[in-house]
Formats: sequence, structure tokens, C-alpha cells
Amino acid sequence: MSVVPAASSNKVTVPGILQRKSGVPNDNSLPAKITCLTAYDYPTARLLDEAGVDVLLVGDSLGMVVLGYESTLPVTLEEMLHHTRAVRRGTRRALLVADMPYGSYHADHAETVRNAVRFVKEAGAEAIKVEGGERRMETIARMVDAEIPVMGHIGLTPQSINAFGGFRVQGKTEEAGEQILRDARAVEAAGAFSIVLESIPRELAARITAELKIPTIGIGAGPDCDGQVLVIHDLLGMSFGHQAKFARRYADVGETISRAAAEYCRDVQQGQFPSDGESYHLSAERRSSKLVVK
Ligand code: KIV
Repeated sequence: MSVVPAASSNKVTVPGILQRKSGVPNDNSLPAKITCLTAYDYPTARLLDEAGVDVLLVGDSLGMVVLGYESTLPVTLEEMLHHTRAVRRGTRRALLVADMPYGSYHADHAETVRNAVRFVKEAGAEAIKVEGGERRMETIARMVDAEIPVMGHIGLTPQSINAFGGFRVQGKTEEAGEQILRDARAVEAAGAFSIVLESIPRELAARITAELKIPTIGIGAGPDCDGQVLVIHDLLGMSFGHQAKFARRYADVGETISRAAAEYCRDVQQGQFPSDGESYHLSAERRSSKLVVK
């Protein structure tokens, strides 16, 4: 079995991500746009890390794309920790960010910090992500105070699905756009090192990106953000149901898996798997013994 890969020399760090803010010249000519993908297990983390993805996010989208829940709300702290540990074992270069699941940062601040610390101490996360803007200021500040880098997340925040009444683009009216702008400023002021902008108009995302000093990472927020994030199962064609228009499919791994499984079933049923070459054999001497079925 594999061992935990050693950290690489070009390791992506929190200060490194801050340096990648568009328009800010960086001293080591790093590409400006930040790449982020979700990962939930060891092999995927390894493949994405080796492909050069900057940030691996153990998103609570885990609940929907891996665990089969209807929303992200049922995902537990223990499930997130379990999957973050697996991703940790496959990650060398990328920055590892873990989502705090619904309920793990909504009670008192002491409990929130204790839960966030578990991601760092027990699962090897280098930063955590929380959803929400103005109302999360104190939460973010407390975690930053405990030396835990925080990625914010505003716009369509899936943990607010009941409050929003569904997965809908946010910030389309003047008033809603102003609130999202205030949320972005609040997350930055609280000390977050980056912020996810989800499902908001391109123009609003561009304005936030131009105003904030921390990098914005968009998902359904247009191309003007400082980076982009996608759910890996959407990118690979391994998710079911409605596909949002921003979720570009780069491969059809779902179709490849279905075809391979159907071929395997056919081969087994027709006696074509395993072949003699795929079988172990006794030595020539033992083969002639009475035990061998002729
Ligand atoms: O849970 C998740 O995968 C996320 C990304 C979509 C940003 O929060």
C-alpha cells in the first residue's frame, strides 16, 4: 500500500495563495490564476496533486456527490475528518482546505474553534472554509486568532439551501448585490485569506475581485475571479442529476466506468474471465498428482 507522500519543494501555502492575487506582481513569476478542485479520497487527491492543482478542497459537496445525500446539510464533522485524512495522505504540493460542515460552526465560538482545530491536528488540513458573510465575521476572526487560515464562501452558500428555498443564482437585484459586496468586505476584514464566490453574476464577481485584496475563487461567478473551483465529479462526468451551466465536463469517466463494469459482467458470465493466463498454476510435478482435477 502507498505511504504518505513527502511535502514537495514547490508546496502551495497560504502566503503563496495571497501572493497570487491578480494584478499584484509576485516575485517568483507564479501564474496568477489559482486552480482549485474538490477531492474526497486518496487516489483522486494524488492524481489532482500530481496534475498541478493548487488547492484541494475537501468540500462538504462530499455529502451529495459521494455519500448520496440530497443536500450538504446532513454531512457530519466525523465524515469530513475521515475524508480529509484520506486526501491528506495523497497530497504533497497542493494547499489542503477542508470545509466545516453545517452545524460545526453555528453554536458558540469555543466549540467552533475546537472543531476547526480538529481539522488541523487530526486530519492535516492547512486551512478551513466556512460559508457566510457579515454574520460570520466573529467566527472567522476567532479561527484566525487560533492560527487557522480561513477561506470564506459567499453568494450561493449550499448550507443556506432552506433559507434560500433552493439552489439559485444570488445577487441579481441591486439590493442583493450590495449585500454580497458587504459580505465580501466583511470576510476580508475578519482575516480570511481567500474567498469563494458561488453562483453570482459575472459583473458582481468582477467588482468584488477588483475591490478585495484577498484572492477570489469563483464557481459560477465568471472568468474575472482570481481563481476557479469545480466539484471534481462534475468535471469528470461522474455526477447525477442537473448539471449547472458553469460545470464544464472535461471527461466522461461515468460512461467509462459503466462500460467497463458491463464488459466485466459479460466476460464472467460467458466464462471469458479469468483466462488461463490470468490464473495461478501448480508446478508441473504437482499438476500430475491425484489432487488435480483433470
Ligand atoms: O463543498 C464544495 O464542494 C464547495 C465548493 C463548490 C466551493 O464548497
